[in-house]
Amino acid sequence: MTKPKIIVTRRWPREVEARLADEFNVTLNETDRPLGQAELREALLQADAVLPTVTDRLGADLFEGGVRAKMLGNFGVGFNHIDIAAARSAGLVVTNTPAVLTGATADLAMTLLLMCARRAGEGERELRSGGWTGWRPTHLCGAQVTGKTIGIIGMGRIGQAMAQRCHFGFGMDVVFFDRYPVADPGVPARQMATVEEVLAAADFVSLHCPGGGENHNLINRQRLACMKPSAFLINTARGDVVDEDALVEALDEGLLAGAGLDVFKAEPAVSGALTGRDDVVLLPHLGSATTETRIAMGMRVVDNLHAFFDGHRPPDAVN
Ligand code: DGY
Repeated sequence: MTKPKIIVTRRWPREVEARLADEFNVTLNETDRPLGQAELREALLQADAVLPTVTDRLGADLFEGGVRAKMLGNFGVGFNHIDIAAARSAGLVVTNTPAVLTGATADLAMTLLLMCARRAGEGERELRSGGWTGWRPTHLCGAQVTGKTIGIIGMGRIGQAMAQRCHFGFGMDVVFFDRYPVADPGVPARQMATVEEVLAAADFVSLHCPGGGENHNLINRQRLACMKPSAFLINTARGDVVDEDALVEALDEGLLAGAGLDVFKAEPAVSGALTGRDDVVLLPHLGSATTETRIAMGMRVVDNLHAFFDGHRPPDAVN
């Protein structure tokens, strides 16, 4: 039997590439250079399945006139870079990689929260630049984390994992907003009726909702104005959930104390209005970046490919 033809758009962990090479007729991207739009279109025309990531924009125009590919196996849980409706109309099944990156992403959200609160980025920059003059009682004092209130926006798997870290690890109270009732969030927690109520109650707000659609600019000027001036905003979800210009203005006006961002509107470009500030911690989209997690994500895509080419609905189909 001929093996399905698969095109992978970026470099994947070695173990997963080896499995793909064994089990499929695969074209890997050894240079790791992101494909342009014309190359993505060509991949859809040439392969039975294309395996993209968040760095590939798969808009409706790429599916126009039909394609050979029947499946998009996205390496990642978020899929707002893919026009799902257009992919479906063109006959493609789209899959993602839920669950396997929950712990790593929540760990990274906690890292950002702690770095913001304890001014860890500022301290490291000061020390490395030779500016540290020694211990003193008033040096780089940050905000206490233990016992404060965490506000979670989006109480899915990652939101719940973050709530657990905050509650069980740091004795924090948990409030949250989710569009749907969440009967058992896994920690004692209060579901609030609006995003605004969570923003007003929390000392730290952590975003865990999907990007795109109704969540585009969810955290806008009006909502930022609901936050406590001493509070911090953490975003490991998607860059477009936060209006970055409004965030910079709000920080300038002291509407909140700081922010920890792992995702940005126009990645990999990050606005100079953010990189120039000391009250933000900025990371290069590292949420799921542990070796174990990235291997698990890749293996999950391969399992979905097998299900699909064996004639089943892939377990992680999103359309
Ligand atoms: C995810 O899994 O959504 C990561 O952000 C990479 O796309």
